[in-house]
Amino acid sequence: MTSVSDIRSGFLSFFEKNGHAVRPSAPLVPDNDPTLLFVNAGMVPFKNIFTGVQKPFAPRAATSQKCVRAGGKHNDLDNVGYTARHHTFFEMLGNFSFGDYFKEQAIKYAWDVVTGEFGLPKEKLLVTIYAEDDEAHSLWKKIAGLPDDKIIRIATSDNFWSMGDSGPCGPCSEIFYDHGDHIWGGPPGSPEEDGDRFIEIWNLVFMQFNQHGDGTRENLPTPSIDTGMGLERISTILQGVHNNYDIDLFKSLIAAEEEVYKRKATGDELASFRVIADHLRSSAFLLADGVLPSNEGRGYVLRRIMRRAMRHSHILGAQEPKMHELTSALLNEMGEAYPELVRAEALIRNQLEQEEGRFQRTLGRGLALLDDATTGMNEGDSLPGETAFKLYDTYGFPLDLTQDVLRGRGLKVDSDGFEDAMANQRASGKANWKGSGDAGSLEVWAELADRLGPTRFTGYEAAEGEGELLAIVKDGETVDSASEGALELVFDETPFYAESGGQAGDHGVVNFKSGPEFKVTDVQKRGGGLHVLVGELKSGEVSVGDRAIQAIDKERRAAIRANHSATHLLHAALRNVLGTHVTQKGSLVEADRLRFDFSQGQPLSREELKAVEDEVNAVIRQNTSVSTAEKSPEQAIKDGALALFGEKYGDVVRVLTMGEALSEPKHYSMEFCGGTHVSRTGDIALFTVLSESGVSAGVRRIEATTAKAAFEHLRGQVELGQAAADKLKAPLTELVTRVTALQDQRKELERDLSEAKRQLAMAGPSSGPAQGPEEINGIKLMARVLEGVPAKDLRALIDEAKQSLGSGVAVFIAVNDGKAAVATGVTPDVVEKISAVDLVRVAAGAVGGKGGGGRPDMAQAGGPDGDKADAALEAVRETLKAL
Ligand code: ALA
Repeated sequence: MTSVSDIRSGFLSFFEKNGHAVRPSAPLVPDNDPTLLFVNAGMVPFKNIFTGVQKPFAPRAATSQKCVRAGGKHNDLDNVGYTARHHTFFEMLGNFSFGDYFKEQAIKYAWDVVTGEFGLPKEKLLVTIYAEDDEAHSLWKKIAGLPDDKIIRIATSDNFWSMGDSGPCGPCSEIFYDHGDHIWGGPPGSPEEDGDRFIEIWNLVFMQFNQHGDGTRENLPTPSIDTGMGLERISTILQGVHNNYDIDLFKSLIAAEEEVYKRKATGDELASFRVIADHLRSSAFLLADGVLPSNEGRGYVLRRIMRRAMRHSHILGAQEPKMHELTSALLNEMGEAYPELVRAEALIRNQLEQEEGRFQRTLGRGLALLDDATTGMNEGDSLPGETAFKLYDTYGFPLDLTQDVLRGRGLKVDSDGFEDAMANQRASGKANWKGSGDAGSLEVWAELADRLGPTRFTGYEAAEGEGELLAIVKDGETVDSASEGALELVFDETPFYAESGGQAGDHGVVNFKSGPEFKVTDVQKRGGGLHVLVGELKSGEVSVGDRAIQAIDKERRAAIRANHSATHLLHAALRNVLGTHVTQKGSLVEADRLRFDFSQGQPLSREELKAVEDEVNAVIRQNTSVSTAEKSPEQAIKDGALALFGEKYGDVVRVLTMGEALSEPKHYSMEFCGGTHVSRTGDIALFTVLSESGVSAGVRRIEATTAKAAFEHLRGQVELGQAAADKLKAPLTELVTRVTALQDQRKELERDLSEAKRQLAMAGPSSGPAQGPEEINGIKLMARVLEGVPAKDLRALIDEAKQSLGSGVAVFIAVNDGKAAVATGVTPDVVEKISAVDLVRVAAGAVGGKGGGGRPDMAQAGGPDGDKADAALEAVRETLKAL
């Protein structure tokens, strides 16, 4: 049997042999496109190459691309588990020509692969073409020798492929496989085409047009080729099975589930096993690419997939998190082809476990509510939207999860009612918010923003500038003039940066032409676009309409600039060193340091941290100029800028480009950013990491600093070392050798000390009247109180004492920090007369201890009253006397 791995590598090496550049799969989160949820076809990463925006890295290429179709335009989530061929995650094998070969060669390669490389019999194959594509018809005849009835013309959009509402597109031709007449179904285009007999395996798209949002099309610069073959489908055929979930990869995953859930994948439960196998793949791959479960955007799609799987985990009897236990089975199957999975292993495991734990807390109660709400309903009835909303809002049930539960019972959900309930809650949420304490000042700012329009920010270029005072806010109210004290001021234009995008607001001074001075200690953005200078008027009075010179603290701003630019370099370096699962989860840029939170499971090793520091510093030393350009978000994305998904960007965005990379794309970092930055990378001077820590599961934090602060930090480290070396009166370079020597010396001294203590214990000075062993009732007794001997050494001392006594009883009490540890030993010949356990109890009782334990020949106990140790020995003597 040919394994999935062999099929994947066989496909790629065929095209490699035929001059194609084989590329690794791009991340599932499209790097350059915040409008597209997930990569959903092999061509997505090459979109800009097809349209001519980007230069091709090679004339022809081949990939096995990770794809997710859940949410957005292509959404297969609802079908998974119930059909033979739907997945939320799948791999698409594809070959691409960027203006190199076209229709004829594409058909030739495809035919060679299916009949040659994969050895499928020609009689089992048929193809479809776009109705008007006569050229494709004659090429299939010529190349494959297919008869007319096996080249089916399809007039519908089925044979015209487009990525989405806009983007590259063209007529296509699909290859179908006939699974045989024992399975119901008809050829494509026939009334029975939805049956399972004829299955599409490969789509060849003859890319010719670029479609715009309004539906108009223009020719691509050069006709190109995009093809896509589902790896799971072709594996089904080559492995002689009919259902995708019966291929080796899924069989192994399902076998692992059988172990974890301790039940067999049969009967009604089979669907649950399949759902879990599929969703495990999509969840793990999305996590590995930096998506974390959340309540919005991509994170919410992931949460829906995870919770849908977890409901099926519950069906299979899970009372506690189980899915994470499947991680290693998945890594066994796919870790070699996708090393990002291995890197993110801890993250995947943690996130699966936590999400399942969170959901299990409400899942049972939610299902009970759903049961109650649906009793008495008949097939075809709908669950009220409000109930579905309650399940969503209180029990964390995504709508499609509720639909999935009800589907089995033939019930539906009133989804319009659900949307209404959601809208109502939003509206009432807003109303409550308005009534809160902040509302007064929020309204003041909203009114000012409406009336004044946004403040013109001049601070990208200037550090100083004149402006007219447009508004004064004192104690949350607008006033026309104000005298000394705390105020918030708004000017028509200002060089002061207002806190946003993680960058702290500026500090500085405002000198009014009429004399007064206003000290700025913070700047906030209010009402959308107002820069509000927060601070204190030192003396005098100011009025609306006054003019003033505003000057920012230049040194502080320079430090902030260096830290902000370094944050971008750090982001790029982390992605290079750790992988593209690293995405920004938060950032803070201040004058003395920067903080960057990002998705990543394990802590960074020292080597990884070093590699990150090295890269950032190398780009700093390139000292290339930093460029900022203003463009439309669409253009920025086309050019390759990194944007945050789910952010709302205006019509014009600032795009910051820094550093040179060695290969395509030529820049080192390109991001959307409204902050202030250095002019050349060399202005950052130096970058050093201060700390690396965990923030929450799957999110790590790096704190770092630059320029003078970085230098001071590093010099501080050197000084620490120097101070230590001074203490040792050694040069700094010898510090480690000297410390190691000291440690060795210490170990040796400890050994000597414990030997000395042992000898002391054996030889006295003993407590009590006799020095050597005493004799009571014919029994030799060695009884001592030992100061400063650790309790853990007592056993060995007792053994030694028993040996030196030959016959008799040894009792040692070690007193440390006022507490007593007692050990007793009795030689075998004396055990008949008295047990070590009885003796230890007597002694322990005297030092305030309870009980004690051991064997007749050796026992131990303790007690709080160390000062009664002598009395304890006396009690032992009394016991022996009484024998
Ligand atoms: N892009 C084409 C598809 O997804 C090959 O079917």
